[in-house]
Amino acid sequence: MEKIVVKGGKPLCGEVTVSGAKNAAVAIIPAAILVDGVCTIENVPNIKDVQVIVKILEYLGASVTYLDSYTLQIDSRNVKKDSAPHDLMRKMRASYYLLGALLGRFCKANVTMPGGCYFGTRPIDQHIKGFEALGAVVRQDGGVIVVEAEKLCGTNIYLDTVSVGATINIILAAALAEGTTTIENVAKEPHIVDLANFLNAMGANIKGAGTDVIRIKGVSKLSGGTYSIIPDQIEAGTFMVAAAATGGNVLVKNIIPKHMESVSAKLTEVGAKVTVFDDSIRVEGGSGHSGANIKTLPYPGFPTDMQPQIVCLLSVASGNSIVTEGVWDNRFQYVGELLRMGANIRVEGKTAFITGVSHLAGAPVRATDLRGGAGMVIAGLMAKGTTEITDIEHIDRGYENMVEKFKALGADICRVSE
Ligand code: EPU
Repeated sequence: MEKIVVKGGKPLCGEVTVSGAKNAAVAIIPAAILVDGVCTIENVPNIKDVQVIVKILEYLGASVTYLDSYTLQIDSRNVKKDSAPHDLMRKMRASYYLLGALLGRFCKANVTMPGGCYFGTRPIDQHIKGFEALGAVVRQDGGVIVVEAEKLCGTNIYLDTVSVGATINIILAAALAEGTTTIENVAKEPHIVDLANFLNAMGANIKGAGTDVIRIKGVSKLSGGTYSIIPDQIEAGTFMVAAAATGGNVLVKNIIPKHMESVSAKLTEVGAKVTVFDDSIRVEGGSGHSGANIKTLPYPGFPTDMQPQIVCLLSVASGNSIVTEGVWDNRFQYVGELLRMGANIRVEGKTAFITGVSHLAGAPVRATDLRGGAGMVIAGLMAKGTTEITDIEHIDRGYENMVEKFKALGADICRVSE
């Protein structure tokens, strides 16, 4: 087992290039199952979650080749199986996209309930509602979900909760269905638009991604093609917050600034200087930040996946801050770790009340989940003394070369064997 060791107190300076988006990649790679041809997918991030989803596709019979470190070629024409292996499925959340993709391809899917970060119960009732509306019968049997349909027919679906996963799964199931599917109250995250763009590039007819209503005219076949995944909005935000939190000066490159608006606005509000260019953003931290109130919301609101990182910054901002989690039931597990570093935070239900302290002190802490782990790295970069972060397999699931990227910005950070 490895851990990350950070000696804090150095302002981050320089340039960092953001990788392809994890949450787009883990949707687009399974979507290749629907394609009757060869897909070339560029800007694929080199992270554990991608490795797992690639292994699942290979198990199913797809031929997957890396043309270079970031370009995947997938040929799913030989996929015959409609069920995915239990041990791989449980390693990540996005494995449930196999449900929509296999259902769309074979009118049948048989997969284990997915794993991923624990934020309280993570129901999939809206995914099931969508599949049933398209004509499938869904059974849950001892942790396995079986979805079957004679055929899938377009219909109108209203999501009771704005769900990224349900929106994506229904798009996958409907892309080859007969007729038109309209999904209302959908999620608008950039990776949903990216998935729709990928499928359209392969011949699908999907309109409205990025708005509240998506219309999918089923097509009889998707053919191969080439597509490049968007940059990772959350990796970009993590570096932006880290730059501000350490009083640094960092140019975050290869991003879509529009995707960063809520994070840029909050960083400006707490006193950082944010300069936006065409495909990069410079963040200058200055000395000291003021507290702020934040509520996480579906896109274009402030992302829940940036909540731990910004709470770490606010833990040393002057005055009081209130951060309300508006997406998940329970996403403050990492706060216990931050308290070990001297933060003054009280969590009541879905709200964290933060009183800024003068500094954090290095301590042994755990990455409780992917973004909580990113928060611990930022806390370590800000803290006086040495922070040792264990359970970093969570971080490796979603951040490519995080330690190397921070090191190149001047951080005193390394991975060591425990
Ligand atoms: N929900 C339901 N029923 C459903 C589906 C969702 O009640 O059928 C609820 C959830 O319990 C939650 C809310 O709706 O309270 C939003 O869940 P959503 O389905 O949008 O989340 P997800 O698709 O499981 C994705 C990301 C998460 C990110 C959320 C919200 C992927 C693989 N995961 O999860 O990313 O937090 O959207 O933006 O895309 C991460 O990258 O660290 C991460 C956890």
